[in-house]
Amino acid sequence: MEDVKIQDPSPSALVKLRNAEWSRAPKSGINDQADYWEKYLLGRGQLEIGFDVMAETQEYQEFMKKQIELLEIHSGELIGDLGSGTGLFNQMLLNTERQRRLFRSSNGRCPKILTVDFVNSALEKSKLRLSHIAAQHYINENSFEFTSANLEVSRLKPIWRFLNGEYFSLIKLKGKIEGLPDYSVDLWAKDYSEFLHETLRGKNLTSKDVRRLHKEFSHGEAEIILDMNRAARFVLRKLVVEDFKDPRQFRYFLEGSYLNHLKVDTSSLRFEKLNFRKSTLNFSIPFQDGQFDKILSSIVLSYLFNPQESLQEFYRMLKPGGRLVVSTFRPDVDMSRVYTRLIQQVENDPDYVTPNGMAREDFLNAVRSFANSAAFLLHLEEEGHFRFFSRAELKGLLEAAGFEIINLYDSFGYPPQAYIAACSK
Ligand SMILES: C[S@@+](CC[C@H](N)C(=O)[O-])C[C@H]1O[C@@H](n2cnc3c(N)ncnc32)[C@H](O)[C@@H]1O
Repeated sequence: MEDVKIQDPSPSALVKLRNAEWSRAPKSGINDQADYWEKYLLGRGQLEIGFDVMAETQEYQEFMKKQIELLEIHSGELIGDLGSGTGLFNQMLLNTERQRRLFRSSNGRCPKILTVDFVNSALEKSKLRLSHIAAQHYINENSFEFTSANLEVSRLKPIWRFLNGEYFSLIKLKGKIEGLPDYSVDLWAKDYSEFLHETLRGKNLTSKDVRRLHKEFSHGEAEIILDMNRAARFVLRKLVVEDFKDPRQFRYFLEGSYLNHLKVDTSSLRFEKLNFRKSTLNFSIPFQDGQFDKILSSIVLSYLFNPQESLQEFYRMLKPGGRLVVSTFRPDVDMSRVYTRLIQQVENDPDYVTPNGMAREDFLNAVRSFANSAAFLLHLEEEGHFRFFSRAELKGLLEAAGFEIINLYDSFGYPPQAYIAACSK
């Protein structure tokens, strides 16, 4: 009998498949992403410690240690911790005397760490944590800065790319706009007409055009096309008063007889089916070209709507030769073992030192409560809100963003629950 050679599907085929699944999945809707993260990171009640439960698990400690090792931080470098959560990277970074020495150098050549998240209260917690550690170990606090920023690129960017002719086919729009079903894109591709082409590309529509759309498409499909037209006209800076939910908002952004499109965001506009969240015409994450020597984004990519666009921005923000370390939970992640182990460890060790001197029972309850919210997170993954990536998908995303020398590592316990990638610009 002949041996059959099993071949892995190509990374791009896998990404395509995931995109298709993502756009098909029913969504229960997270209205305010930062608000959702705030509850997850900080916990809901007085006696909850939220994400800091992670820091207590051996699996997380090993995982973060590996990421720190892969960053290879040297004097004088600027490191971005993007999507920093409650600042556990800083804490683990200053865990060893060898690393602490780096942050005490007196010649002003300490590395600098820029801690970035869009949850302000988590940043506050990170700052406080750092201050304590700095005071305890004589660390130069000025080496650490904290800033609030959204790591998602404006959701209008794919529309901009489409209008710029960067997508060689309509199919490229799939999975890139929230609320746009693959089915609609297939429908357009099948019966593509000059009228549809112009409409999707921001034609100023007359009432006759709108009637024609409703005649040629079902009500729902016509609404999707009208939303696409509105988004395209925003990008082309051709909005009119009827595009706004409230005409007062239109007047607010008027400067003389011109609408200042740069001040408008999509949350003021009427979108029936598509969701662009709060997107503006600013298509960059707010950091400069080549600003960072190294970037860490630990378990963040999966939560960004369009990780590809964010990765391209990370690439832009890195110096030539700069290094990126990113990680993701694996698609079928199961954290129950990790939390059960921690609970057993606390229960069996009478000398277990709880964080912040918490009562044992309170700490155990906090772990159980966090395990529940983490299980909810997995439910959201199943629903298609988030996408945990396989090794091949992660590699495919990094390659597509231009990164080179991509090395992948299994991490987070046995069996490993996460993948880490280290690569270069
Ligand atoms: C699972 S936590 C990881 C925290 C930290 N990197 C760690 O490994 O301990 C994901 C983090 O990403 C942040 N995040 C998610 N979406 C974001 C966005 N659009 N902009 C900035 N931060 C975001 C969340 O606020 C949260 O702090």
